[in-house]
Amino acid sequence: MLSKHHWWRDAVIYQVYVRSFLDSTGDGIGDLAGVRAGLPYLKKLGVDGIWLSPFYPSPQHDHGYDVADYCDVDPLFGDLAEFDLLVAAARRLGIKVLLDIVPNHCSSEHPWFREALESAPGSTARARFHFADGRGPDGGEPPNNWHAMFGGPAWSRVGDGQWYLHMFTPEQPDWNWRDPEVTAEFDRVLRFWLDRGVDGFRIDVAAGLYKHPELPDSDDPEADARTRDSVNPLAWNQPEVHEVWRRWRSLCEEYTARDGRERLLVGEVSVPTAREHALYVRPDELHQAFFFDLLGAPWDADAFRKVISEAMQDIAGTGSTVTWVLNNHDQVRTVTRYGEPATEGSGLGAARARAAALLMLALPGAAYIYQGEELGLPEVVDLPDDVLTDPIFRRTGSRARIRDGCRVPLPWSGQASPFGFTSGAESAKPWLPQPEYFAEYATDRALADTRSFWHLYRDGLQLRSSLPQLGEGTLQWLDTPPGVLAFSRGDGLVCAVNFGTAPTPAPVSGTPLLSSGPCPAGVLPAATAAWWLSDL
Ligand code: GLC
Repeated sequence: MLSKHHWWRDAVIYQVYVRSFLDSTGDGIGDLAGVRAGLPYLKKLGVDGIWLSPFYPSPQHDHGYDVADYCDVDPLFGDLAEFDLLVAAARRLGIKVLLDIVPNHCSSEHPWFREALESAPGSTARARFHFADGRGPDGGEPPNNWHAMFGGPAWSRVGDGQWYLHMFTPEQPDWNWRDPEVTAEFDRVLRFWLDRGVDGFRIDVAAGLYKHPELPDSDDPEADARTRDSVNPLAWNQPEVHEVWRRWRSLCEEYTARDGRERLLVGEVSVPTAREHALYVRPDELHQAFFFDLLGAPWDADAFRKVISEAMQDIAGTGSTVTWVLNNHDQVRTVTRYGEPATEGSGLGAARARAAALLMLALPGAAYIYQGEELGLPEVVDLPDDVLTDPIFRRTGSRARIRDGCRVPLPWSGQASPFGFTSGAESAKPWLPQPEYFAEYATDRALADTRSFWHLYRDGLQLRSSLPQLGEGTLQWLDTPPGVLAFSRGDGLVCAVNFGTAPTPAPVSGTPLLSSGPCPAGVLPAATAAWWLSDL
């Protein structure tokens, strides 16, 4: 059993999508100084830490997930001195800082990839990536039939006729993790940032890195693109990747042994089952891995119960912690997702998103909140084609409009765009246009209105840190009518959610401690969640 509390086992971390958080320079793009200015706001909200989306030098073909230099700051976002100030300010406030590390691929402008392009087939420079000869009479067909996640073939051809593998865009060549230089280089990168004081890393595409050694054809080459998930069993989730997580975990432990501060590795792990997921969070591997099944579940009591039960059994049951998430920078926001076909976040979708938030914060384990979630921001669904920047849009022949709508810059104050997002002149334009209705969601209004999403999240976080029943532990399901879920977290703490459209009797008597909407004694209204402290 664990001998002491590990902060990360039930931490609540706030995802900062840097380019859309707060702009301190007036160029319409959020930056690190903006994040520093926003720290008091996050402290007030009550989160344990922040995860910063990539801010490294990058041509921004995939908003920084195409890294050209892993050990610096892109001038768009600031510089290393500003980074150090941010880490120091966060430390003073007791907010942990996680960086987003991208080990599956880099940018085609990374110096090692440029060197590979200039080097001959078979060279050591090419061995760091997946270069291969093509098929067909003149090698004019790709080495295998794999498709990239964002559409199109997973291979691009270079001048001398060889091809290189990219599971995302052609501007994101995949590293070859069978090359020891790649392993060593990432050790160096981790140390660079750990030496600068970070508390850990969110690991991009953490079930990636290794591919089947022979790169054979897939039986279903379009599966990844079709499902928008990494399901090609030859390209993802190879057993060797676990060696990397063991290596990174021991590197973190080395730092902990020096100063007593526990570092955190959280993986973006998309694998077919909760059992396989659990392998990534074994005691000597990642501390956490996002459990995306909750995010993927439709608004339905049975669906939620199934994913929660599976996670508790197959992940928490192994002694690990479950890491819950409802929103991130790649997905349609909950308010819209649960409210379809509503668009502007009022009504049903908002009520359900509030209920889901209380549910998530009551579950055993850790949770992540994506910026704007605490404001109840809806997805911006009507962005014109010419402002869309997500490479998925381009690579699917303008069919898939997926990831821009959740990345629109945050509204902070005022009645009109830029809503305090940019410190520049009134004319300064946020990099994605903010709709007029964002005025309703601005942080100044949210803070002033005790019925806002912000207050719900803040109150939930406060209770979570003051009530020992919440955070890590177990849950027991209570008997409930169809369409309603209720569970006890021990010592009288009960959380219930009514997924239905009619009120239902409250599962316990008394007045709730906290509820996602008006909740008279004895009743749990439709699309509402509540927490009670009873003498059950
Ligand atoms: C992850 C990121 C996503 C990015 C992709 C490629 O899924 O969350 O934003 O585009 O990896 O790096």
